Amino acid sequence: MARILVTSALPYINGVKHLGNLAGSMLPADVYARFMRLQGHEVLAICATDEHGAPAELAAAAVGQDVQTYCDEQHDIQQSIGDQFGLSWDYFGRTSSARNAEMTQRFAITLEKNGLIAEVVEQQIYSIDDGRFLPDRYVEGICPDCGFEKARGDQCDNCGRLLDPIELIEPYSTVSGSRNLQVRDTRHLQLRQTVIEERVRAWVDDSDGWPKFAKSIACKWLNEGLRDRTITRDLKWGVPVTKDGVLREGFEDKVFYVWFDAPIGYISATREWAESTGRDWECWWRTDKGAEDVRYVQFMGKDNVAFHTVSFPATLLGSEEPWKTVDALKAFNWLTWYGGKFSTSNKRGVFMDQALELLPADYWRWYLTAYGPENSDAQFTWDHFQISVNKDLADVLGNFVNRILKFGASRFDGVTPAGGKPGEAEAWLAREVETRLQAIASHYEAMEFRKAAAQTRALWAAGNEYLTKVEPWAHFRTDKDRAALGVRVGINLVRLCAIVAQPIIPEAAGKIFKALELKARHPWPRGTAAELLAALGPGHGFGPVEILFAKVEDDQISAWVERFGGAPEP
Ligand code: MF3
Ligand code: ZN
Repeated sequence: MARILVTSALPYINGVKHLGNLAGSMLPADVYARFMRLQGHEVLAICATDEHGAPAELAAAAVGQDVQTYCDEQHDIQQSIGDQFGLSWDYFGRTSSARNAEMTQRFAITLEKNGLIAEVVEQQIYSIDDGRFLPDRYVEGICPDCGFEKARGDQCDNCGRLLDPIELIEPYSTVSGSRNLQVRDTRHLQLRQTVIEERVRAWVDDSDGWPKFAKSIACKWLNEGLRDRTITRDLKWGVPVTKDGVLREGFEDKVFYVWFDAPIGYISATREWAESTGRDWECWWRTDKGAEDVRYVQFMGKDNVAFHTVSFPATLLGSEEPWKTVDALKAFNWLTWYGGKFSTSNKRGVFMDQALELLPADYWRWYLTAYGPENSDAQFTWDHFQISVNKDLADVLGNFVNRILKFGASRFDGVTPAGGKPGEAEAWLAREVETRLQAIASHYEAMEFRKAAAQTRALWAAGNEYLTKVEPWAHFRTDKDRAALGVRVGINLVRLCAIVAQPIIPEAAGKIFKALELKARHPWPRGTAAELLAALGPGHGFGPVEILFAKVEDDQISAWVERFGGAPEP
């Protein structure tokens, strides 16, 4: 039994997340955590809302709330929607917690002591009418690169370039619209990544367990050469900058940059989990306290990789303390909305709360796992969604489970019958079961989610194929033993189909277990295929299953296209 720490990139607090955010980190993290728990490993799955920074302040201001109230509300909303999606975190924390502030401040002090943080004077845009500096998204203007007119201070949404606010042409304040701006000097703290570059490089070179995608992104950043990075901002909402236990002189109106404190949130959320459950946190995070044996796996979208392979490791390694660093980092591409961008700010696409209004979580969990943006971007379209879930969930899984349980209930009174000896069809099925079970497990081990889903579906499909081979309904009158065998083996196969379905569609799996009068959760199957297909012997009761997956109908799809749109605006 191994100890596995799983984290998902922390979702921003500024509003309910869209399906792309779900598909690109929270959902695969959950599927992986569930699989590993079924294997009998000790899993700790941690997530939290990422609450600081300009986006949170601006989102709160947009709805006329103070930022603390806004974050309190949005945290609870995200937690509840995550629950409804079956995201099985052991702890869902908040980066605005007191614990995270304390840990962030402590890291900064340690890094400064180690010569990795320096005070510098920087030029920032100051708004005379607003009486404040305008960091990041507080200022917009024309992109110096592509000429896009609404480029934000931190990034151009049109060409993707990262920007410094003072590079913007004809800048204006997003607070007041004022163009009465000046460039002023202001003090900031810089993380001296250039000093620690070689350590980070050696650490990346040493990492063998990372999937290729993440490693190639990390190497690309390292090859471009690291830059020192400003880790404070002229904002109110964030972790205060302290020194010797009081606000640092000259930094009274500043806070740490959100990307500095957010990943530290993985650690502080773990501490809060430990505090609330009476458990130990250090054995997960300190290699001198047992974390040496932990396998730490991170999930995130590709835009987050640099922060997790370079900046956060620079913080951890630079502290010269024995922190656990990531062992395997799984990065995802983008889920697109008809080839365009899902967008929180433009409300384009389907958001998690809306998705649950349309269909139960398992439909989305299946679709986003089996057709997710894993090795390339993946397009969400309503047609593809409808075709895929109808085929996989209704035709393949639902149909198989229904056929055999219904027939068994009506002809064998809902009790698994004794029956004839296994023959050729059962031998074929055993081979099939053995291959699929092995393939599913090894794909999960390798964090290949689409492949794991495809093999899961292949096992379900084997169920239908087996029934076609043995046709118990055709033999019921002439050879009852033969029909009985088909039913008993079929019902055992239903059980296996539900067991392998658990990581992706836990609710449906639970319904199947209930129909089979079994407990709600089953460990990953061990034993030979022949043993597994005989796990439920004669005399085991079962009932009909509630409808597992109703088909998504054309008129539903038309209504959703109407509501959410289809192709994005050009
Ligand atoms: N909120 C960030 C995003 O959605 C991810 C933060 S990950 C963390 O892109 F580790 F920094 F918290
Ligand atoms: Zn641009």
